[in-house]
Amino acid sequence: MDCGGLLDPALPDRLQLRSGRAKIAVLIPFAQRAAGDCTTLAAEEVIVPRKPIVGGNWKMNTNRGSAASLASAVASAHQDDSGVEVIIFPPFPYLLEVGRAISGSAVMLGAQDVYHEADGAFTGEVSAAMLRDCGCRWVLTGHSERRHVIGEDDALVNRKTRAALEAGLSVILCIGETREQRAAGETDDVNTRQLTAGLQGVSASQSGRIAIAYEPVWAIGTGLTATPDDAQAAHAAIRATLAEIFDPSTAAAMRIQYGGSMKPGNAAGLMKMPDVDGGLIGGASLNAGDFSAIVQAAVRA
Ligand code: 13P
Repeated sequence: MDCGGLLDPALPDRLQLRSGRAKIAVLIPFAQRAAGDCTTLAAEEVIVPRKPIVGGNWKMNTNRGSAASLASAVASAHQDDSGVEVIIFPPFPYLLEVGRAISGSAVMLGAQDVYHEADGAFTGEVSAAMLRDCGCRWVLTGHSERRHVIGEDDALVNRKTRAALEAGLSVILCIGETREQRAAGETDDVNTRQLTAGLQGVSASQSGRIAIAYEPVWAIGTGLTATPDDAQAAHAAIRATLAEIFDPSTAAAMRIQYGGSMKPGNAAGLMKMPDVDGGLIGGASLNAGDFSAIVQAAVRA
């Protein structure tokens, strides 16, 4: 019988984890799994729902006027957050204006980057407290463009992640392999390394404020998208790594988004996969209609 998911026979006294297609994780007592019965639900089972999460990363796009009107259009399409969490990540100079435009809606404000120091002589940088002061609840760390264009390494990504969490922000930690790494069969190794380093010193109690975005570098802005099966394989491996870093029940509850040329036409296929809990959208988030269609695909997944 296939119990699926992450089963750890070395830990018989712990609940074992099964990830479900309905974006829920079911924790199965080991004794029950050992008896080969993973279809009958036991009274001790805990069901952990994973609410889908969709982010719009505007990158270095828009201007003051277009940022405000795009934010207003996104806000009017998402007045209620019952089925999905929606976050938009405008450029720094437009955070306040965008914050005003989405005020009263279910859309949350996020920043594309943060610096790990609290204050001081760090010309051009922006602290987590400043972001909170501007209404941000979320921040991206480890985005592929910051790793591969700006040159951030895993240690810096980790410092930023910890500083943001300690300041009370929620974090989307972005990971993913390059085209060459994928061709060399290194996808899972790269993801494991970036996760392990990025989450060093982060506690399971902080995990409720962390989502992971799997963004294969070769798919970002290229029009190439991972197939649903390839995305699912990567996401399942990421969840297994999260179970090792934290524990199975923490991993079961964490959201893992897919990013990389997600569009209205491919979003549903990706998001129906059991371990794909939403998306991080670049180009398509600059069009309110396309972004809403992707959000709706997440609600239906
Ligand atoms: P695209 O959707 O433009 O490929 O960008 C994805 C991304 O980098 C989101 O952070």
